[in-house]
Amino acid sequence: MEFELIATDAETGARAGLLHTDHGTIETPIFMPVGTVGSVKAVMQEQLKETVKGQIILGNTYHLYLRPGTEILEKAGGLHKFNGWDRPILTDSGGYQVFSLSGNRKLKEEGALFQSHIDGSRHLFTPESVMDIQRSIGADIVMAFDECTPYPCEYGYARKSMELTHRWLTRCVKRFGETEPKYGHNQSLFPIVQGSTYKDLRRESAEFISQIEADGNAIGGLSVGEPEQDMYEMCELVCGILPKQKPRYLMGVGTPWNILEGIGLGVDMFDCVMPTRNGRNGMLFTSEGVVNIKNKRWADDFSPIDAGLEDGPSTVYTKAYLRHLFAANEILGLQLASLQNLSFYLHLVKEARKHIIAGDFASWRRGMLETVKRRN
Ligand code: GUN
Repeated sequence: MEFELIATDAETGARAGLLHTDHGTIETPIFMPVGTVGSVKAVMQEQLKETVKGQIILGNTYHLYLRPGTEILEKAGGLHKFNGWDRPILTDSGGYQVFSLSGNRKLKEEGALFQSHIDGSRHLFTPESVMDIQRSIGADIVMAFDECTPYPCEYGYARKSMELTHRWLTRCVKRFGETEPKYGHNQSLFPIVQGSTYKDLRRESAEFISQIEADGNAIGGLSVGEPEQDMYEMCELVCGILPKQKPRYLMGVGTPWNILEGIGLGVDMFDCVMPTRNGRNGMLFTSEGVVNIKNKRWADDFSPIDAGLEDGPSTVYTKAYLRHLFAANEILGLQLASLQNLSFYLHLVKEARKHIIAGDFASWRRGMLETVKRRN
């Protein structure tokens, strides 16, 4: 995998780049729609490509391991063949999901013991098994096994957890180096910076991760309930240490304004369930700001869902119609809201990239931040 820096903004830390993978080139900064079980909820792969203009999607090791399991994924020839998405895929390692979803989890030096959220069965994830599972899934980018600390987190726990994440990383790198891709395309391992909201820990973690010399690096343990200002501060500190020539991925972030801030701090990749999950609850992200489409005020508003988008469901459907679909509990409503939000997120990062290259990112962002935060 190769990362080419095309432009850097003079006023902020923003960068525009090209990330070359065996499944195609990704234009950064980029937003990655989340497809937890190998499916971006309510959206077909054709729509992800043609309507949303998605370039890379995410899958989760935890979910895919539990269902359909590695045996089926291997028989299919990997996740790309199984779900019909022939562009790049990134898989999260399962660390985060074990802590947020499974019951009765227990952390040991060896790994994480957990109970499936589906049937209560018991499993052990180790850095080695997580690397092997991600070889079976076959994503282009695979994540190291880590512990994502909660917020707030006591200093002592945050330090111990970060040190464990570093020891696990060493084991991940070793196992990954000893194994081969299964499906004829290359896979890259991204390590994850932890350290909660403590500057010295973040600095130590970013320095440790930098010396791994991976193809790219991730920042984890943020957007877990800390004030936004803390998230930006940690992000800035870490981006100042991580190698400039490698892509940086801020995990699980976030709102449109979080993404605009993150880009300005030097982040290249983002993912979040927000556009799809909140979309299914009737919360739309648009070029006019945030819209609660269930609100009665849209009942007779026959303007496009988002007049600022050239693609997406707006070309055909109105706010009044989408509101009606939600009121009538029609599944098309969930699909259109997901398409709208993903289209807007991908539009936003594409515009950001355009302005980074044009050299007016900072002034464009000032106006955009106000717009995306507006409540309608
Ligand atoms: N997704 C959001 N945050 C995290 C994190 O800290 N670690 C992992 N593995 N996934 C995440």
